[in-house]
Amino acid sequence: MRIHVVDHPLVAHKLTTLRDERTDSPTFRRLADELVTLLAYEATRDVRTEQVDVRTPVAQTTGVRLARPKPLIVPILRAGLGMLDGMMRVLPTAEAGFLGLIRDEETLQPSTYANRLPEDLSGRQVYVLDPMLATGGTLVAAIRELIRRGADDVTAICLLAAPEGTEAVEHDLAGAPVTVVTAAMDERLNDAGYIVPGLGDAGDRMYG
Ligand code: PRP
Repeated sequence: MRIHVVDHPLVAHKLTTLRDERTDSPTFRRLADELVTLLAYEATRDVRTEQVDVRTPVAQTTGVRLARPKPLIVPILRAGLGMLDGMMRVLPTAEAGFLGLIRDEETLQPSTYANRLPEDLSGRQVYVLDPMLATGGTLVAAIRELIRRGADDVTAICLLAAPEGTEAVEHDLAGAPVTVVTAAMDERLNDAGYIVPGLGDAGDRMYG
């Protein structure tokens, strides 16, 4: 697994406002959307392209376009849905698939309640969107399903990550082609499984 913590003043600025408990839901959703677009710029650094010829008004030259099959974007419901538009802004021709997972508040174990993914992901680059990488259980379950369907390159974009979560991804998906891109690596998890200092429950802050 590769991890990339994006070090940029605009990312830090938007994340600080997201963390602030006084930030209301409309502002939280708008900032999450903007932040994803900045993270997506870094997360797509290795997006696959192919060379094409192009004729400008002046001359013939070569350029690139996104390779086929198109990348797949997978927001993890519920909170990941608030990141989809910001990602689509960078990759407007990508396709979207959906996974719904909920973490049990007592056991912290995830369970899947929705799965609307293409059956065959062979040769696909996949971008998973989930604001919080806490224990890592949700992301591990999601990526396992994507790899089972044939995905060979998975990049997870998380607004925030905890060391416990990245260690779980590293351990449980050892050797898998996985990259995690995040705005910050926080200190730890608390006893309730929340990231500290974190930003609270992203789903609740987005959707109530
Ligand atoms: C939160 C969050 C992640 C998950 C992270 O979702 O959005 O999906 O928990 O926790 P983990 O790394 O310990 O698995 P939640 O289950 O609260 O669902 P929601 O998005 O519907 O609010």
